[in-house]
Amino acid sequence: MNGLRSLFLSAACLLALTLAAQPAEFRPGEEWPDTNGEHINAHGGAVLFHEGVYYWYGENRPDRGFTTEVGVEVYSSTDLYRWKDEGVALAVSAEEGSPIEKGCIMERPKVVYNPKTRQFVMLFHLELKGRGYEAARVGFAVSDSPTGPFRFLRSLRPNAGRWPVEFKRADVRCAEKQNPADYKDWWTPEWRTAIEKGMFTARDRKGGQMSRDMTVYVDDDGKAYHIFSSEDNLTLHLAELTDDFLDYTGRYTRIAPGGQNEAPTVFKRNGMYWLITSGCTGWAPNQARMFCAPSLWGPWKQLPSPFEGEGAERTFGGQGTYVLKVPGHTDGFVFMADVWNPSHLRRSRHIWLPIAFRADGTPFIPWRDRWTLEDLK
Ligand code: GAL
Repeated sequence: MNGLRSLFLSAACLLALTLAAQPAEFRPGEEWPDTNGEHINAHGGAVLFHEGVYYWYGENRPDRGFTTEVGVEVYSSTDLYRWKDEGVALAVSAEEGSPIEKGCIMERPKVVYNPKTRQFVMLFHLELKGRGYEAARVGFAVSDSPTGPFRFLRSLRPNAGRWPVEFKRADVRCAEKQNPADYKDWWTPEWRTAIEKGMFTARDRKGGQMSRDMTVYVDDDGKAYHIFSSEDNLTLHLAELTDDFLDYTGRYTRIAPGGQNEAPTVFKRNGMYWLITSGCTGWAPNQARMFCAPSLWGPWKQLPSPFEGEGAERTFGGQGTYVLKVPGHTDGFVFMADVWNPSHLRRSRHIWLPIAFRADGTPFIPWRDRWTLEDLK
């Protein structure tokens, strides 16, 4: 009898533990166990909704160190709360000299579905092995299945040989005249003006523009855009992708020149585009920034950070990575962020918060300890 009772008790305990490990609610900033009980190892990531299933792609980070040893991990879910580890979507290569050789750095992967080619396309920030963050490239990979395996296609610096769409002939001449060698010190008023005029755009034009922190946005008309920190993380670029999402059309615009924006996230509501970014302080949190524009091509207007309440000045310890539009909810937008833990990157926590809107349409994001999708209604 005793044996039976203890068996029953342990089964009940196990059930309670399993349920506790997979709560049907969001708990921003806490450990987020997957269906195996392991903290979700998908950082700097994004969620794709495809045929009734959500896929969460992100950086598979080691417990120690800063390089990519495994690749991009993918999880699946039907409710956004409980996530099943589907394994490695894009694996690092064992081949020496490969751009994605084990020990490279793969960051901020974003996957979009292309209905024309029926392919899942992944763009990610790629740094080459042993070269720190100097390569500043974007990687492209494709797969026929959302869980992969993705096939690495190539890496590059975007828009080689091109000028931003807003540059008239006089702007090009002016940018070409700016010479980085004339500015020994950064951050002087003269240097700032030269940056605004496109000194680094001109510097990098031949080989392509630098591309670090990034996101991909697919607009209602099916066109896709790559938005990334360029020009030594000083200026964001928004670049139009070709119809197959595998290349650039050559059309791009600069956003907030010299503004030092990272971690871009984009969404659209009632015809207005919103861009939430962070400042550039590495793994340390800082105050988010927000911009809005009636078109992706601008003009982008800067507004105060949307975060509110205690800890808002440091984005509650997080740095944005994606805004998920939740299907079935007109106003269901979720801000996804990482709370980086540089001594154990794998353990970096996730902050997911619903975006609220004022009567005039301006987004704001207060902290919540707990919330559910019901709160989006
Ligand atoms: C952050 C960036 C991360 C990662 C990190 C490296 O600013 O957002 O994605 O690159 O720097 O220090």
